[in-house]
This record gives sequence, C-alpha cells and structure tokens, in this order.
Amino acid sequence: MLDDFFKQCSASKISTLCAQLISMSKQAFAVNNGNIPKWENAISMIKTQNSGALNYVAPYLNIHAKNIDKDDLEFSLKQLMPWRKGPYQIGDLQLDSEWRGDMKWDRVVPHIQSLKGKTVLDVGSGNGYFTYLMAISGAEMALGLEPFLLFNYQFQAIRTLIKNPPNAFVLPLRLEDMPDEAVFDTVFSMGVLYHQKDHMAHLYKLKNMLTKGGELVLETLIIDAKDGDQIIPEDRYARMRNVWCLPSTDTLHTWLKQTGFSKIKLVDVTKTTPEEQRATHWIGNNTQSLQDFLDPNDDTLTIEGLPAPKRAIFVCQK
Ligand SMILES: C[S@@+](CC[C@H](N)C(=O)[O-])C[C@H]1O[C@@H](n2cnc3c(N)ncnc32)[C@H](O)[C@@H]1O
Repeated sequence: MLDDFFKQCSASKISTLCAQLISMSKQAFAVNNGNIPKWENAISMIKTQNSGALNYVAPYLNIHAKNIDKDDLEFSLKQLMPWRKGPYQIGDLQLDSEWRGDMKWDRVVPHIQSLKGKTVLDVGSGNGYFTYLMAISGAEMALGLEPFLLFNYQFQAIRTLIKNPPNAFVLPLRLEDMPDEAVFDTVFSMGVLYHQKDHMAHLYKLKNMLTKGGELVLETLIIDAKDGDQIIPEDRYARMRNVWCLPSTDTLHTWLKQTGFSKIKLVDVTKTTPEEQRATHWIGNNTQSLQDFLDPNDDTLTIEGLPAPKRAIFVCQK
C-alpha cells in the first residue's frame, strides 16, 4: 500500500524507511493506547457505509456518498471525537469540526507555488484535511505526518468513505523521525512551530526535507512587535499546555534567514476569530473553544493575560 503511494515520485527512496518507522511507532502506540479497540470498531462500522467521490465545496471537503445511513455514520464518527480539523461533509452529514480549515486554506493558496505534479509534505497534518486539499490541488503525492494516533484513525475513517481516494496519506510519525532526505518540492508546517521546544531544529529539519529551490509554507502563532521580540509562555497559552514560542514576525523572519532560507515573504497576518475556531458538537464533552480561552473583558488578551492568538504565514525557498 505504502509502495503504491510513494510510487514514481521523488520521495520513493524514503518509502521503505517510512514503512519500518510506522511499524515501530504502531507497536509503541498499541502498548500505550487503550482506545484502539473502540477506534478500530468505529472504522469497521464506517466500512459498511457507501463511499463516494471527494471534492472541495468550501467550507467542506465533500464526499458524495449516496444512501448513507446518516445516524449510524454520525454515531461511528463520534467514536473518534474530538474532530478538531475539517469541516467534512459525507452525503448529507455535515461534520462541523472545531476549526474552519477552509479559512486558513483561503489565506494560504493565493501565495504559494502551484502544487500540480509536486511531491508535498504536510507536517502536523492532524486528520489530513489539508493533506487532501493539497492532493486535490494537483499534488502528485501529499504525505501528512501526525504523531497523535487518534487523528490517524480519523484520516482512515475519511479515507474509507472516499471512492478512489487521491494520492494523500497520513502516517503516524513526527517530523524528527524522518530521514534527512531532500525529496519534497513543497513542505507545509502549519500550526506546528509553536509546539516545538527547539524551534530552530524544526526549521532546519523542514529545510533538509526540501529539494533545492523547493518552497516552505510556514504558518504559526505570532505576536505584534509592540509586545516584544518573542514571548515564551511560562505556563499555558490560551489554555494550551505545550506552547513554547510566540515570535514577532521580524523575529520569525530572522529565524528563517538564519536557517538559510531565501526569498522570505510574510504573506498574511490574521487574528484568530471565534468564526474560525468554535465549539461544535463534534468536539466531545469538553465543549470549550477559543471564546472560552480569551479574557472575557478584553478579547485582545488570552485568559492568561497574553496577546490573543494571531497567526502569520511565511513562504520562502531553500
Ligand atoms: C495545531 S495542530 C495543526 C494542524 C494543521 N496543520 C492545521 O494547520 O490546522 C498541530 C499538529 O501538529 C502535530 N505535531 C506536533 N509536533 C509535531 C512534530 N514534531 N511532527 C509532526 N507533527 C507534530 C500535533 O500532533 C498536532 O496535530
């Protein structure tokens, strides 16, 4: 299966190594995760549904499956909650995830090189919403890396429902697990840098995986210059535990330059709104979202008193 996915593209030389890594990480995950039987059962139930063709009808990644059993499918997909990334529509079932991924995609697409025929890496892909969009946009292959096992099951659930899925795949791996091979024409790191303890190691690794002249699309949380060069949260940030760096756009520009990228362009800065990140019934019992993470009296601040989430998109070349 993996060989088919990697076939003929410039990344085929890493396919065997990826297969070995996956086998190792699956064993590690299986030991640590008691939810696997529930998730496997959900996938088995989803397999009994009809599949359909995939396309993008914003905001939804739309699967045109006819005669699905909507209640049954909703029940099965809800065994895989929380659905952070999406939204998806399967038949007439709308899976409204916490995030409106289409809003980020709209900000990214006008500024990047065409993905037609490209070999693309989507680091921190979550359940593959963007990985699918990359493939639909014409990528020869789009590989997502996502260490959080549940999101791999969500990817599998969606893939099960697609008739003739495009050449997109999500593997349960971290960026740092990957071999240093320059095989990807475009590398996306969206919403991942601030989760890294060592941001420069992340940037160097992204560069190592790009072909010469390849494009990096980097999206991450930033702060305004008036708030300093960077903030390293002492504790939580917008209730998230694992946020390690919030640079200003100037600081991030410097980091990219220090890594050796060229043609560095800041193409977008957008404040995250409750329209883009919202509580829905697809995120489970803990129904808190952005609105609950902001200061109730001042939406320019998080509940911890830090600048409210704002995201920048940089594009640059190796
Ligand atoms: C905030 S989400 C962003 C998802 C998606 N890329 C987006 O832009 O909406 C960050 C994801 O990156 C994953 N992640 C964190 N560190 C990673 C690493 N070192 N390698 C690959 N994925 C990582 C997390 O598990 C999480 O699913």
